[in-house]
Amino acid sequence: MDKLRVGLIFGGRSVEHEVSIASATSIYRALDPTRYEVTLVAIDHDGRWHRGAPKLPPEASLRGDLVSLAPMPGARALVPAERGAPATATPLDVVIPIVHGRGGEDGSLQGLLELAEIPYVGSGVLGSAIQMDKEVSKRLLAAAGLPILPYLCVRASELARDSRGCAERVLAALRLPVFVKPANLGSSVGIHKVKAAAELVPALEDAVRYDPKVVVEQGIAARDIEIALLGDNPVEASVPGEIRTHREWYDYEAKYVDEATELLVPAPISDALAQELRDTAIRAFRALEGRGFARVDFLVDQNTDTYYVNELNSLPGFTDVSMYPRMWEASGLSYPALIDRLIELALESHRDRSKLETQYRKP
Ligand SMILES: Nc1ncnc2c1ncn2[C@@H]1O[C@H](COP(=O)(O)OP(=O)(O)O)[C@@H](O)[C@H]1O
Ligand SMILES: [Mg+2]
Repeated sequence: MDKLRVGLIFGGRSVEHEVSIASATSIYRALDPTRYEVTLVAIDHDGRWHRGAPKLPPEASLRGDLVSLAPMPGARALVPAERGAPATATPLDVVIPIVHGRGGEDGSLQGLLELAEIPYVGSGVLGSAIQMDKEVSKRLLAAAGLPILPYLCVRASELARDSRGCAERVLAALRLPVFVKPANLGSSVGIHKVKAAAELVPALEDAVRYDPKVVVEQGIAARDIEIALLGDNPVEASVPGEIRTHREWYDYEAKYVDEATELLVPAPISDALAQELRDTAIRAFRALEGRGFARVDFLVDQNTDTYYVNELNSLPGFTDVSMYPRMWEASGLSYPALIDRLIELALESHRDRSKLETQYRKP
């Protein structure tokens, strides 16, 4: 049997560049060399694509030759992007786009792969874009009747015009503390926990540096509990996991620096709550047009067990110690088997989409 030609795209122009390299390294090691022929593609901080040499660690790819993907159906290959380069194309049967943040997780990379007609792992253009945007996500979750915390949206233009008015609007609708979040970011960057009214405008002003749209959300004393989802029809849900930080909340330091952050899998919660979270996670995945896989993050009230959907991640961290694979491991699915399944799902869903009519036919 011919090997499946897999493109592993990682890196990217975001604060999560290094996280993505770590995820790609774990995935690369887990891909069975007897079944897959892997090409590494590293996107550098300037957005250029480097084709890596096989058998080198992923970060070494950042010095590979420059390539691009033509949005031309049928070609299905990486082509040299530099004039005078030896004209070797690399055909791809499927892509694992493990690029976090803007330009990777927001539907744009998915759009390029869609135009190039290459099957890829994970959510499509719409699902990726929706799950990346905290404000649009909340609107759709609310419309589906799913529990979310009360929130307001503040725009940069409004803040520039009348910052006092913005602060008054927030304080009239929500109690302190509130969380101020740029609508389209991750890794807790640009997020502020605001405990005093005087801190609100500075927090909003900082958040609009990252995104002209900001979500201000009711803060609660919460546990961070997550569920991993896999599949399309049916979608399967893992055992829950919990993140415990010794910091006040799960901020950037807690995520990537603080060694004392604990990941508990399975989360110590009742079976009844775990089942409710799993059901709610699947409904949220459908409401936000998820495909293939996602990690659904909940905030669970520390005192009452009341739960709220916090966010969906269409490209969760994927190192072998990350929450998403660990929750599957604890549910009986090994890391390599998980990657195999994701690739299968990508091929299946591409096959389904390719069957759609592209021309009008008289009924
Ligand atoms: N409304 C809230 N109440 C209490 N804690 C919150 C709230 N919103 C966020 N947090 C804390 O901040 C962390 C990061 O917020 P989140 O919305 O998940 O942003 P990101 O997309 O950057 O991960 C959460 O994991 C949680 O610990
Ligand atoms: Mg989060």
